Amino acid sequence: MVQLTLPKNSKITGNSKVHTAEKKDGGAYRTFKVYRYDPDTPENPRIDSYEIDVSNVSMVLDGLIKIKNEIDPSLAFRRSCREGVCGSCAFNINGANTLACTIGLDELGDGDITVYPLPHQPVVKDLVTDLSKFYEQHAYIEPYLKAKDDEPDDEWRQSQADREKLDGLYECILCACCSTSCPSYWWNGDKDGEDEYLGPAALLQAYRWLSDSRDQHTNERLDKLEDDFKLYRCHTIMNCAQVCPKHLNPAKAIVEIKKMMVSRPDGKAAK
Ligand code: SF4
Ligand code: SF4
Ligand code: FES
Repeated sequence: MVQLTLPKNSKITGNSKVHTAEKKDGGAYRTFKVYRYDPDTPENPRIDSYEIDVSNVSMVLDGLIKIKNEIDPSLAFRRSCREGVCGSCAFNINGANTLACTIGLDELGDGDITVYPLPHQPVVKDLVTDLSKFYEQHAYIEPYLKAKDDEPDDEWRQSQADREKLDGLYECILCACCSTSCPSYWWNGDKDGEDEYLGPAALLQAYRWLSDSRDQHTNERLDKLEDDFKLYRCHTIMNCAQVCPKHLNPAKAIVEIKKMMVSRPDGKAAK
């Protein structure tokens, strides 16, 4: 039976700060309820409320930037591209992991907007989580071309049909929405060594390289996934596919890797 222990000071207390807006004619007001926590202080996390004029705010990220610029510069969150490309503005918004820069306020109904950090990751401050483990798991699958032949004079060639096999895989922006929404990853994703589930993002990337016609390390890549935890802790719960903001399907990629495992003659694949 899995035993879960919450870190000290993890309970949200009622010491919230409430920022109300001075209403103006023509304004449209909504309240953001945002998770605040600084582990360097003895204070427990709290949820602060920020009522803002959203007449010129389309996306949740625009709202957070407005709060930081106009009300509370101490609010910490990551963002960069504002275009759904860098993956840095992934938060839990109204209960679902997604990108703040691509989710519109109009997609979130009329009520308050809650913004929490990605679940089950250590919090560095407020909405900033420590994704070191997530990146380690990505590094583990060796996300680059590994060949055995001598390097060609010009380039590694690939047919159009082989290139198309990478569609639905290469678009991953490593936002971590999928892995941090996966219950199996919550239970098994933060252990060291053998007993660790790599999670949907790393496994989708693993399949991206297993599918690449130019890569010649299929056996070695499968060997690295062959234990009770790294791959086989996916139970097809499908949270990953539901939340992926790029509409990818990590669960399907995981199934395809499992198929490659069983089709290895004498336990080894063809290349
Ligand atoms: S598969 Fe989707 S949700 Fe998961 S890291 Fe990649 S882009 Fe993000
Ligand atoms: S399908 Fe697998 S990877 Fe996706 S959320 Fe479920 S257990 Fe996690
Ligand atoms: S800011 Fe880059 S994905 Fe949102």
